[in-house]
Amino acid sequence: MNGNGYSHHPTSIGILACELYIPSLYVEQSALETYDKVSKGKYTIGLGQQRIAICSDHEDICSLCLTVLSRLFEQTGVYPQQIGRLDVGTETLVDKAKSIKTVLMQLFTEHGNTAVEGVDSINACYGGTAAIFNAIHWIESSYWDGRYAVVVMGDIAVYAKGNARPTGGAGACALLIGPNAPIVFEPGCRSTYMTNVYDFYKPDLSSPYPVVDGQLSVQCYTSALDTCYAQYCVKAQMNGESRSKTSSTDVDDINLSTFAGIVFHTPYVKLTQKSFARLYFNDILRACSYIPNALIEKYKNFDIHSSANDKDLERDLIEQSRELFGQKTLPGLYFSQNMGNMYTPSLYYSLFSFLSSQPSDEQFYGQRILLFSYGSGLASSMYSIICRKAHDARFTLRQIQKSIQRARQELDNERIELDPELMDKLLLEREKHDHQASFIPSQPSQVLKPGNMYLKSVDKNYRRAYEKLHDNENTSSDKKETVQQLYREYFQTQQINGDTHG
Ligand code: ACO
Repeated sequence: MNGNGYSHHPTSIGILACELYIPSLYVEQSALETYDKVSKGKYTIGLGQQRIAICSDHEDICSLCLTVLSRLFEQTGVYPQQIGRLDVGTETLVDKAKSIKTVLMQLFTEHGNTAVEGVDSINACYGGTAAIFNAIHWIESSYWDGRYAVVVMGDIAVYAKGNARPTGGAGACALLIGPNAPIVFEPGCRSTYMTNVYDFYKPDLSSPYPVVDGQLSVQCYTSALDTCYAQYCVKAQMNGESRSKTSSTDVDDINLSTFAGIVFHTPYVKLTQKSFARLYFNDILRACSYIPNALIEKYKNFDIHSSANDKDLERDLIEQSRELFGQKTLPGLYFSQNMGNMYTPSLYYSLFSFLSSQPSDEQFYGQRILLFSYGSGLASSMYSIICRKAHDARFTLRQIQKSIQRARQELDNERIELDPELMDKLLLEREKHDHQASFIPSQPSQVLKPGNMYLKSVDKNYRRAYEKLHDNENTSSDKKETVQQLYREYFQTQQINGDTHG
């Protein structure tokens, strides 16, 4: 029994509900190719990206997180008093001491709830996964008091001008975590690989940009993937054995065919296709039963480690695994392809894209989905979830699908396109204003969406204030056409006033 009198052991802990953030602005990657004077297809085919999400100066990491959290309360009808733990995952820091979690506390204290455990988890794109693990462990612990946990994760992913810039993006999501969930974290099925490397890091605390060794980061991602997968298969097999009390399961029976979906942290879409092919290669070398014999024979003398830089092998594996990739991973790439890398929430947007790829919830019941989380530096984990029919009508897979569909609607119909030239200027401004005090956002307010929270001001003591845009403000019908023009005029004025450098 825990200190609050809960003697029961919570089961089926997982995701009860979710809300996703869609930034209002985007740039077409094909337009960016022309603007950056790179060969046609480099970003759209070579990286597999279609659009990149951009945030205005009214949006910072706290406003994104405040928006998804307040929407989670509105949409689920859960009261802030019902939350006992809130974990935040991010790598977009606005303060070295004050956590974003404490900023989000404003949504609880106004309802008289100050008893909310948890702070921020930080390690590149892995912080969201660390936050989820914390929330699960709290519910499983003797300290759980029967209330829900919430995980909020988000990032504004921006790179300095150069070859990494097209792999930026932005996003945030809030997950309600609790027992008897429709999306259950599979007990015991988790592997982890962590080590010390400098592939992507942010040593300059005054800059929003990382120092990145792109090729090294891809190599680190791939070796983390190989290691986590090998370890996951062993753990999942042991877990299956202990549950069935028989040892009839062979470790090779845990393979890609075990899962309806396989979703990855997605810095860019092409990397997930290569990663899927890599997992398929692991299954070939393990001679898994679903792999054609001819392929097992062809690759029987290959070694997983020495083959990492073999481009011919990579091309062949992509071809051999194309059909399975189309079934198990491609449906999970819609948000990433159209928003870019979101850092911490990227993996979870992939999960949500996958879960909303079918019109009905029925076909997901009993299905397992494999998740791979990677954060540079590095921290990585692989784990699985199972979808189930939940009995509480408020928290069903159908409701989760509806939340995701709302986000997809916003993505498809409500965003405003900017020219790459304007994105460059906008990012120059972000560089300049990132840690400026005092500061009042001044970009065109027409980008603001009713119901969202926005940065109102940063005062001379760096204190940030946020406000919600109410429904009746900012509903101009010709908004899409005018915003681009307003941004042009805005930057012209800034230049005349000498406010924009570059
Ligand atoms: N048409 C089609 N394909 C093309 C074209 C073209 N015109 N031009 C290039 N390509 C292909 C290349 O052949 C290459 O394919 P490959 O990966 O199969 O070899 C691909 O496009 C990328 O081109 P590169 O020249 O290798 O790209 P570049 O070196 O300019 O940068 C990189 C790519 C390293 C991903 C860079 O964008 C980066 O550093 N991004 C940030 C780091 C990152 O995302 N790392 C991933 C894990 S860590 C994390 O999540 C932050």
